[in-house]
Amino acid sequence: MTQFKKISDSETTITELMIPSYSNFSGKIHGGILLSLMDKVAYVCAAKHSGEYCVTVAVEGVEFHNPVEVGDLVSIKSSVNYVGNTTMIIGMRVETLKPKSGIVTHTNSCYFTMAAKNETGELTQVPGLIIENETQMRRFCEGKLLRRFSSEKRNMLKSDLNNLTQQEVRELCGGEKCELYR
Ligand SMILES: CC(C)(COP(=O)(O)OP(=O)(O)OC[C@H]1O[C@@H](n2cnc3c(N)ncnc32)[C@H](O)[C@@H]1OP(=O)(O)O)[C@@H](O)C(=O)NCCC(=O)NCCS
Repeated sequence: MTQFKKISDSETTITELMIPSYSNFSGKIHGGILLSLMDKVAYVCAAKHSGEYCVTVAVEGVEFHNPVEVGDLVSIKSSVNYVGNTTMIIGMRVETLKPKSGIVTHTNSCYFTMAAKNETGELTQVPGLIIENETQMRRFCEGKLLRRFSSEKRNMLKSDLNNLTQQEVRELCGGEKCELYR
């Protein structure tokens, strides 16, 4: 019988201070540091919901809208937005707080797909979601559409490019910022 769990039971938030060793040459925080933090939070959220060991399958929609600086407090909020059979889409919201001024900036929102695996490393079923309000319902539908569009996008890219001749691929590169080999 399928088990169902509340979204609030696995919601996870962390706050981390951005220290100098996280920064690049221009004093801004490396995007990879933020990605790594997001991956950890997505893992915690997915592991809490599934009760299993989880792996990252795909990341969608990572865009850094504003630079993050040394001294900022980065908070990452996450929740399970959608579940399939063995995977979960974790919605993530990243905000930075400048402690001195109190200014909070929304830096990024994105989606991590995490899969649950059992002791022998096989994919395993995850519990369903108990949806308790309109926001959670909207996020669930967003996840459903995201899954459908991502898969269509992958298939389209593969099949469209594979069906093109070498000449057509060459023409597609035309007018772009590249010098083509002869
Ligand atoms: C991703 C992975 C689990 C897919 O396994 P598979 O047997 O090829 O996949 P299937 O086609 O049977 O699909 C299994 C699930 O993954 C989902 N999935 C597969 N590819 C996906 C993709 N590119 N994006 C999103 N979801 C994907 C499917 O929708 C399906 O979800 P569901 O069970 O909730 O319906 C497998 O390739 C894997 O274990 N990859 C390594 C993950 C890992 O180690 N990550 C850490 C990186 S170091």
